[in-house]
Amino acid sequence: AKQTITVIKGDGIGPSIIDSAIEILNAAGCEFDYEYVDAGLAALEKTGELLPQATLEAIDRNKITLKGPLTTPVGEGFTSINVTLRKQFNLYANVRPVKSFEGTKARYSDIDIITVRENTQGMYSGLGQIVSPDGQEAEAKSRITRDGAEKIVTFAYELARREGRKKVTTVHKANILKSTSGLFLKVAREVAARYPDIESAEMIVDAACMKLVMTPDEFDVIVTTNLFGDILSDLCAGLVGGLGMAPGANIGEGAAIFEAVHGSAPDIAGKNLANPTSVILASIQMLDYLGMQDKAEKIRAAVADVIKSGDRTTRDLGGTHGTTDFTQAVIERL
Ligand code: NAI
Ligand code: MG
Repeated sequence: AKQTITVIKGDGIGPSIIDSAIEILNAAGCEFDYEYVDAGLAALEKTGELLPQATLEAIDRNKITLKGPLTTPVGEGFTSINVTLRKQFNLYANVRPVKSFEGTKARYSDIDIITVRENTQGMYSGLGQIVSPDGQEAEAKSRITRDGAEKIVTFAYELARREGRKKVTTVHKANILKSTSGLFLKVAREVAARYPDIESAEMIVDAACMKLVMTPDEFDVIVTTNLFGDILSDLCAGLVGGLGMAPGANIGEGAAIFEAVHGSAPDIAGKNLANPTSVILASIQMLDYLGMQDKAEKIRAAVADVIKSGDRTTRDLGGTHGTTDFTQAVIERL
């Protein structure tokens, strides 16, 4: 039977970049069935809910989801849909690879870093969010469990082994956040000891930011807690030419959601300006996950050739073209 992929087009630039990725999957000969469901503002308008039950059921039923960015209205009453999805399906690993493509405006040409971000705990666990009645004080709870830390660090080392990577760097702030980052680091050291074939390093998050900018070739696989992973992965996207170049996979035991690292980009939405490479690369992660490496390679090569030649690239890549022209250029190479 054909694999069915749940597709959430999302908000802002979401629909146009998801359309691009699916046209490319089809042009590459991937025979999937697609089940389209809504979430985010699109769903709120149609159903009155940001995350309808039918959407949750489709994600659960098909196990594989390709998702555009969602706009979470800022302010009270709305929990982030992404945080909810990650918690609901226990998508504990957020895998965010960045790799240089020849022809971008990036400062570096040889970046190859995978950030493995813990995706359900830490500062984003949503626990203990309190604002005092007079509005003068606010607090939130960060929670790390031994189990959660062990799962994500083990995931990072297993990924390193499987992909022939040499080094795993644990990024933390255990000098200040003694309890939470402290536990994470302690467990990371225990896990590291089980992987003598892989070099292990540890680094405090602020120093890691500086080193990622100064000497990014020191990094191979990074494993870290939720908030640091969110920030570091955007930094890493900047090393390869921006958010238009950065995909991410949210992986759990029962389901996986593939998406771009960036948001709905309201500043460029509806103008045919978005670079769809982020979700095209997310769909390549999806193909890898499904064991379809040949298709993944074929699409990657086509994208690489478009960017290298500058044939119909988008503005963030130094070009003058839009999402649809870029997509067409990729399809012609397939
Ligand atoms: P953003 O990531 O949407 O945009 C940041 C900057 O990067 C903007 O200047 C934007 O134009 C540019 N950019 C992003 N993707 C691009 C692409 N594919 N091609 C070219 N340029 C691109 O961040 P922002 O503006 O802070 O957030 C907007 C909304 O997105 C918010 O409602 C936020 O909650 C949501 N968001 C959703 C995420 C998700 O669904 N996974 C992740 C991050 C934010
Ligand atoms: Mg982010």
